[in-house]
Amino acid sequence: MLIASAKKYPPSPPSYPFVGQTFEIPQTKPWLYFRELGKTYGSIVRLSLGGDEVLLVNDAEDALELLSRRSSNYSSRKQLVYGAKYQSKGKRLVHMNYGEELRKQRAAFHNMFQPRAVGAYQPLQERASLRLLRSILEKPREMWMNTKEYAASIVYMLSYGKDLKDGGEDLKTILDIVDGFVRDCMPGAHLVDTFPILDVLPDILSPWRKEASDKHMFEMRLYQRLLLEAKDKTYTATNDGDCFASRVWADKDKHQLDLVSMSYLVGSAVEAGTDTPTSTILFFLAAAVLYPDAYRKAQQEIDSVVGADGSMIPTFANVDDLPYCFAYAKEVLRWMPTAPVAFPHFSDRDDEYKGYFIRGKTTIVPNVWSMHRNEEAHPNPSKFIPERYFEGIKRPIKLGDLTEGHYGFGFGRRSCPGKYLAVQTVWIAIVRVIWGFNIGHARDENGNIIPVDPMDCIAGITTKPKEFPLEIRCRSSVHEETMKRVSDGIM
Ligand code: HEM
Repeated sequence: MLIASAKKYPPSPPSYPFVGQTFEIPQTKPWLYFRELGKTYGSIVRLSLGGDEVLLVNDAEDALELLSRRSSNYSSRKQLVYGAKYQSKGKRLVHMNYGEELRKQRAAFHNMFQPRAVGAYQPLQERASLRLLRSILEKPREMWMNTKEYAASIVYMLSYGKDLKDGGEDLKTILDIVDGFVRDCMPGAHLVDTFPILDVLPDILSPWRKEASDKHMFEMRLYQRLLLEAKDKTYTATNDGDCFASRVWADKDKHQLDLVSMSYLVGSAVEAGTDTPTSTILFFLAAAVLYPDAYRKAQQEIDSVVGADGSMIPTFANVDDLPYCFAYAKEVLRWMPTAPVAFPHFSDRDDEYKGYFIRGKTTIVPNVWSMHRNEEAHPNPSKFIPERYFEGIKRPIKLGDLTEGHYGFGFGRRSCPGKYLAVQTVWIAIVRVIWGFNIGHARDENGNIIPVDPMDCIAGITTKPKEFPLEIRCRSSVHEETMKRVSDGIM
């Protein structure tokens, strides 16, 4: 217990009565502002947002100490009124406080997506990546949709044992849910989350309440239907019907989760597994345009392994032969983290750190962006340089190691439970696109290069580059024939 006189709070910028620094925080890319605050006030900065305590953590060492080593205290989430209480009815994993139900849900996730399990999903990921190549061949101008479809198809199949092709409007519904979710979770997105007292107002004065509850119904219509459809696909280790939903049904009595919790548990895999892998691959496309030398090096490495004539396509079996590609994929995850403030954590109890008092019920915002742009850890941090990870690669290369050397997957007990699946999804897409296509700047009608700015992002708790035109061409007729040959029958 810390006594009152010992309390020394972390440094803080000037604030206004009642609202604190609420209105100082930009709605787009707040991580840039947080980084600037760090430069002025030091690596940990205290903010007050409408009475809520917030601690910005700009330095990796501080984040690791608080969120990982002291994770027994820093693994809850602030209970958002809009997103957690009304939209998710307290049942969506990412919003949950640390406790029994979270442990059960994360255990179910672990069972399905742990390192030992995800190797078995590689054939599915290879097939999905062939479809991706084929869609690029056929619709090169629709890279954003091609990529979303690719990422969604993998988690949809793993979650419900069903091909997204047969899912009718499901892709559109998933993308609607994901887009809304990343906007709704952004700090400041809903006034009631800054001033929870507004929740006492009656419905007539709180149209947002119905809006959030309608979103819940919308989500349940999809997630519950898919969960119920998967009920009869009884899980056995070798059964084709094996999927996340069927395992959740099989463990129903053990986990004692109700239908809404089970629906959100499996739905969480679909929404989280669609959003950030898509964004990562889109940032890869930006790197491909902006850093042609690195792209060419990766292409040469692939050619040296599978041959340059285009008749053989790289597979997961080539991971250890492609160290530069491994470093390249890791650099994509560092260069433009798709969750630049991870997902803020929340503390349960008072604590003391570096002589500062940190009140219990503080929101901790780990500024991953700032950690990835740290000059000492990553010289020339805004440049895309795979070589920074190339030295010191551990052999044999394990794709799971793509989760290390950066903070893109978050911290401690809340770190991303889908990360081992995610790195496989990202790696096979990157490697096969590099193998099959040349990518460069698109040009306008006068032949001038259309610039690409990876910082021109869609704002939200996660981020992705706004759509930009790019030139993407198949490398040769042999590459094209190979793509068609190997993807025939799975389209
Ligand atoms: C490149 C792709 C991905 C990135 C960059 C990413 C990143 C993250 C980050 C930063 C967090 C928050 C961690 C924290 O609070 O400290 C997170 C949470 C989460 N991710 Fe991922 N993720 C990715 C892919 C996936 C996939 C494929 C799945 C599902 C199969 C998934 C499922 C989840 C879930 C359920 C949570 C919430 C965990 C919790 O609150 O305890 N993610 N992810």
